[in-house]
Amino acid sequence: MDRQIWINGSTLPMADARIDVQDRGFQFADGVYEVVRVYSGRLFTLAEHLNRLKNSSEAIGITLPMSLSTLAIEIRKFIDRERLHEGMIYLQVSRGVCERNHVYPADLQPTLLFYATPLEPLGPIGSGRGLRLLPVPDERWRKCWIKSIALLANILAKNEAVAGGFDEAVFIDDGRVMEGSSTNFFAVINGQLVTPPTGPKILPGITRQVLIDIARMMGEPIIERPISETEVATASEIFMTSSTKELMWVSHWGQQPISESAGPVTRKMHESFRQWVRKDIGLELATAV
Ligand code: PDD
Repeated sequence: MDRQIWINGSTLPMADARIDVQDRGFQFADGVYEVVRVYSGRLFTLAEHLNRLKNSSEAIGITLPMSLSTLAIEIRKFIDRERLHEGMIYLQVSRGVCERNHVYPADLQPTLLFYATPLEPLGPIGSGRGLRLLPVPDERWRKCWIKSIALLANILAKNEAVAGGFDEAVFIDDGRVMEGSSTNFFAVINGQLVTPPTGPKILPGITRQVLIDIARMMGEPIIERPISETEVATASEIFMTSSTKELMWVSHWGQQPISESAGPVTRKMHESFRQWVRKDIGLELATAV
């Protein structure tokens, strides 16, 4: 079966899908998005992602064209039809189509779409090589809590990192660590698991929040506090999080080695995260062998 896409209520083959040249998402990056992980055919933390989508769209004055519960039903129907087992849903809403003008009309019909991308099951905890992080100046706007499709600063930073032999760029704002180009940041410093507090320069990551909730339930809360770039050099462990990658251990901060393998705190948190996912979706997870 051809890969399908859902656009404004219709499902059609991806190859037949068309977006108007005057769509403001295309011309102005005037829109917001979400990425939701699918494990064993089940959507993980869908409600949290849809709530964040609503917050992002309300923040830029877009009213979603359907209720979150109707949207959730549509997404579930779609992944069942696509028989998506392991993968992700990319979900985007743009302000809609109109003659190019910085001022937008009030009555536009938003363009809402989503499609599925299969992903390989993630490997066992601590497997694979560690990430090499490149600290870069944070040149983004101050509303990074909005999951905007305007990702040019993130894209340029990530590509600079990859071109230099790194895996991810981490934004530094005024000497403080913010987040990665598409990931949140955690470190073990002086024996404490810490992460920067959310704010203008940090997306409230769903994976980040799940870990904070898990740690609190375990009676070992994660400390949300500002982290200076110089402190990071003293970290015994660093890991990055996202919906598609879960927890990724870090081997290098710039040229400085951090650890040679996934550290004990990273492993423990990752194990607890996977247990949480298993409980949440009510199924065993597929893991790569
Ligand atoms: N990125 N910070 C940024 C800037 C992100 O773009 C993302 C997610 C995260 C992690 O958030 P979450 O745990 O909710 O996935 C943090 C997605 C996966 C992407 O752009 O593909």
